Amino acid sequence: MPTADWKIKELTPGQLSERSGVAVSALHFYEREGLISSRRTSGNQRRYTRETLRRVAFIRISQRVGIPLSDIRGALDRLPEGRTPTRRDWETLSTAWREDLDERITQLVRLRDNLTGCIGCGCLSLGSCKLVNEYDRLGAEGPGARVLDVHLNCPEPGRNGCDDSLSALPESRDSLCSQLADPDSPTASAC
Ligand code: FES
Repeated sequence: MPTADWKIKELTPGQLSERSGVAVSALHFYEREGLISSRRTSGNQRRYTRETLRRVAFIRISQRVGIPLSDIRGALDRLPEGRTPTRRDWETLSTAWREDLDERITQLVRLRDNLTGCIGCGCLSLGSCKLVNEYDRLGAEGPGARVLDVHLNCPEPGRNGCDDSLSALPESRDSLCSQLADPDSPTASAC
């Protein structure tokens, strides 16, 4: 049975901690970082509005999937100050953040589906690297895992700065992408 009765409108740090499952020290950190706020009683005790539980849950779940605090703060900044956010307020936040979340989901799916093949990182440690990134030619384009970061993220050549770099690949982008996705392809079997 939670100590914070559901009818309570303001929570102590201990009550917020217990119901949210987040340590008081972490709540203080969130407050210092401007992610949540509290008022002080006449005895200088912190009190949090009940809606802070939703903010803390939002922060924790976002952190769990690897979203930086700065991005979480940017999203929460879209909520109103000084009043409990309405459903419409959360919808506004959600709509603005959807594109960013979609991009993260796309990156995670790409990572899941392609991490066993050559990702163009310059290590040249897999058999498929000879086909996809011979002599680390992709390194001339720039830093990072070029296949994951750029080539598989280029649905429209000419955008995202990946059009010029396509000529550096030994295969066309479509061919490369299909090889990486096909477990029976020569590229995949060379891994
Ligand atoms: S996996 Fe690193 S260059 Fe191929």
